Amino acid sequence: MKFQTKNVHFSNKKNEPIRSKVTPIYQSSAFTFKSLQELEAFYQGEGNYLYSRVGNPNTDELGHAVAALEGAEAGVATSSGLSAVLVSILAVASAGDHIIANDDLYGGTFQLIAKELKEVGIESSFVSFTDREMIVKEIKPNTKVIYSESVTNPFLRVENLEQIVEVAREFKLISLIDNTFATPFLCKPHEDGIDLVIHSATKYIGGHSDVTAGVVVGSQELIKKVNQKLGNLGANLSPFESWLACRGLKTMSIRMEKQSNNAAKVAEGLVSLSGVNKVFYPSNLSPKGNGAMVTIELDESQCDIERFINGLGWIKLVPTLAGVETTVSYPIATSHRALDTEALQMLGITKGLIRISIGIEDDQDILDALSEAIKESNL
Ligand SMILES: Cc1ncc(COP(=O)(O)O)c(C=O)c1O
Repeated sequence: MKFQTKNVHFSNKKNEPIRSKVTPIYQSSAFTFKSLQELEAFYQGEGNYLYSRVGNPNTDELGHAVAALEGAEAGVATSSGLSAVLVSILAVASAGDHIIANDDLYGGTFQLIAKELKEVGIESSFVSFTDREMIVKEIKPNTKVIYSESVTNPFLRVENLEQIVEVAREFKLISLIDNTFATPFLCKPHEDGIDLVIHSATKYIGGHSDVTAGVVVGSQELIKKVNQKLGNLGANLSPFESWLACRGLKTMSIRMEKQSNNAAKVAEGLVSLSGVNKVFYPSNLSPKGNGAMVTIELDESQCDIERFINGLGWIKLVPTLAGVETTVSYPIATSHRALDTEALQMLGITKGLIRISIGIEDDQDILDALSEAIKESNL
């Protein structure tokens, strides 16, 4: 099956005796057993489900569907993208271990690794992944994990996955990649040799800004460990949220195609506008497109940022991305808010930086609305 076909034709096989076209919502916290023997058989690995915190047909459907699209053996759904990051790391690292991570990451992931994991004894170093030498210099005897994003947030740099796989193999590290911005439609890190691939399914997998969810995919062996952590920590996704994410997932190919095409046109149109210092948009992600995120840096001496935001009209200011509607977010006030001035400076997150999530609308309408707001904001 080609990607677009696989993207639509997935179901939980265990639903087959009932034969509903769409998997129903198994809104049940637990599952019954006819006898003690049947219960015992479950623990021996036979039978379906026990308790929704540790497994449910809807969460399985989401995990399996994304695994199939990523070319991975197994996948699990989690309560959010951030809990997907958490359970993935805790499945492969513990107190005393060290993580080497890219310094250009989603702010929430940065906080999780730099603060929360530090508090439980997992050390970390953040370095620019643009240079192999810089990565290797930070590897310590206790380094266990190498972590990055396939397309970084907010600067949209396309990660060199080959380099990460090569460093991971040489230094026996477990490689983790957050593939949220790229989606498996445009990038399949597991097929390139990355051990665990993480998604905030809140974004393009769900695609309609109505669900908070995460997914992790990888080998059967590693996903078993992730699943154990997930059950022990209670980071499971609810059946209804899983069902919504599966419904959204079915249109991911066509959404990504349209949104990537729109984004390329909008990025090109923004480059020459007065007041726009820089446009960040990848050019080397995939022959199918370069994603639907565009980041711009407005010239603070030339543009009033507040006036720009207020002048956007139907384009809303929202602290998220990846819906079917074009939206903007302001990293310094949202995703990267928790960072101190030094960290912001190091990452290059300025007051003029605006992240645009391009939707499925008419591309010229999107460009006109943004251009108008930039013109209006000129001092
Ligand atoms: C790249 C990336 N990874 C992970 C997350 C966290 O996902 P969630 O909000 O679903 O927990 C986000 C959220 O914006 C993100 O942008």
